[in-house]
Amino acid sequence: MVENERKDDNTGDSGGKSPKKLRVLLRTFGCQMNIRDSEVIAGILIQAGFELRQSEDDADVVILNTCAVREHAEEKVWSEIGSLAKRRTKHEARGTQNEIRRTKNEARGTNEVHSPWSTVHSKDARDQFCEAKKVTVTKSDSHLSARTENREPRTASPIIGLVGCMAKNYGQAAFTRSPFVDFVVGPQDIAKIPEILQKLVHSQSILRQAQDCVVDGRQNRETKDEARSTRDEKEIEARSIKHEGREGDRNRKQENTEIQRTKQPSSILFERKIWETDGLTRPEEIYHSGFRSDTKKAYIVISEGCSNYCSYCVVPYVRGQLRHRRQEDILREAQEAASKGITEIFLLGQNVNSYRSVSATGAEGDFVDLLEAVHALEGVSRISFISSHPKDSNTRLFKAIAGLEKVKKSLHLPFQSGSDHILKSMNRGYNSKYYLELAREYRKIVPGGELSTDIIVGFPGESEEDFQATYRMVEDVRFDSAFIFKYSPRPHSKAVDFSDDVEKHEKERRHKLILDLQKRVSLSARQRREAK
Ligand code: 5AD
Ligand code: SF4
Repeated sequence: MVENERKDDNTGDSGGKSPKKLRVLLRTFGCQMNIRDSEVIAGILIQAGFELRQSEDDADVVILNTCAVREHAEEKVWSEIGSLAKRRTKHEARGTQNEIRRTKNEARGTNEVHSPWSTVHSKDARDQFCEAKKVTVTKSDSHLSARTENREPRTASPIIGLVGCMAKNYGQAAFTRSPFVDFVVGPQDIAKIPEILQKLVHSQSILRQAQDCVVDGRQNRETKDEARSTRDEKEIEARSIKHEGREGDRNRKQENTEIQRTKQPSSILFERKIWETDGLTRPEEIYHSGFRSDTKKAYIVISEGCSNYCSYCVVPYVRGQLRHRRQEDILREAQEAASKGITEIFLLGQNVNSYRSVSATGAEGDFVDLLEAVHALEGVSRISFISSHPKDSNTRLFKAIAGLEKVKKSLHLPFQSGSDHILKSMNRGYNSKYYLELAREYRKIVPGGELSTDIIVGFPGESEEDFQATYRMVEDVRFDSAFIFKYSPRPHSKAVDFSDDVEKHEKERRHKLILDLQKRVSLSARQRREAK
């Protein structure tokens, strides 16, 4: 049990002082859904006895909660891991020097340098461990016991975790892409993170012990060589992981896995790598830890995953099929937030309009029913939501936006393309005429309401004529704001098999043209508003 293990594992070696909590830095990439997921992770980590930090300088663990929607988003994460890895290599070099200095000090009877992570291990356990790994302990017993009494934790190179959509996208292959990644957890498995960390910290402590034993046996070597050796071992280990590819990764039965580092002539290292990417659902309770990063606004997930399978989109593959949370659970979460003084509720789903709740009593409800129920909550003064799919949006929703006082008069309604044949190829389930009608209805029913959208340029097969249709849609609808994306082929998605035939420079040209148009439209919309 994690709770029981915490005493042993989630401590530095305190030598009789109060146990040190492990410090976690959470970095979030991507959308509001990820922001909320990071809050959820933070909440369950705090419940399990971890501590949150703002900087990697004093973090024992760095968790990157990632996005896989476009390749660019993934590149940012790999580059972040690269920078962390650089710091880590420096740490390891420094750590090895410290170990050697410590060993020398201990031989002199002083204890200046301290071991990271580690659980307090008795001399016997330590000897046993080194024995099992066939490493000779050269120091006398008195040195060992003196060290365990006085050691304090110090900052070490952090454990690095890849979490979220990219984690699911890469699975085990993430360890090949970067050997510095220690664990990989998909969006449906985030509840397991505290336990995974306990296991890894335990492994790290064993690793440190192995290094202690190794250092004991080679005090006289050059410190630079030691650092290089540690780095080389990592690279060797990376090469030793079989690259199964993403397809193989998906088909393989995925379980927690241990990877044994190769034995080097001068040292023995053992490191555990864990990946969890096959979960289907999240336990409801993870949404109720009470942790929020904003004191005024609460993001609340109403549905997970998506079953629309737009041909360009990786979401159904990384977040799974659409699942709805029950209305009563959502309301409980909203009430918990309101009881802490939060006044704005922000409802999240990949397609909120397809929301359907079946309650414990068997009563059914749709998204408008949910809006009305949240609206009735005391303490809630503002309600927003994202994202809506045109094919599931209708006048009932627009009337609810107009009629429910607390609901923000705003709608995010991605149209993606103005060309019918591209929309068909995208599997969006509507055509441009339908979208234009819907936008007109919205403007009529919600006078003065804001309208925003998402657009993809350069989708496979998009001709100049198709692009002009998109351009015209922006001119006609006059969105208040728009997010414009260059098409990026995504693994698993249907469109990855289409020829990505719009040249990069052409995608950039189209992107710039729409962006410039939208800037002009947004400016005049703002000026009109301000003139009123
Ligand atoms: N390439 C470019 N943009 C994409 N989006 C989703 N998948 C891709 C992709 N493969 C955009 C869509 C979506 C928004 C969240 O991201 O416009 O609405
Ligand atoms: Fe992706 Fe389409 Fe689902 Fe949005 S509706 S998450 S674009 S599959």
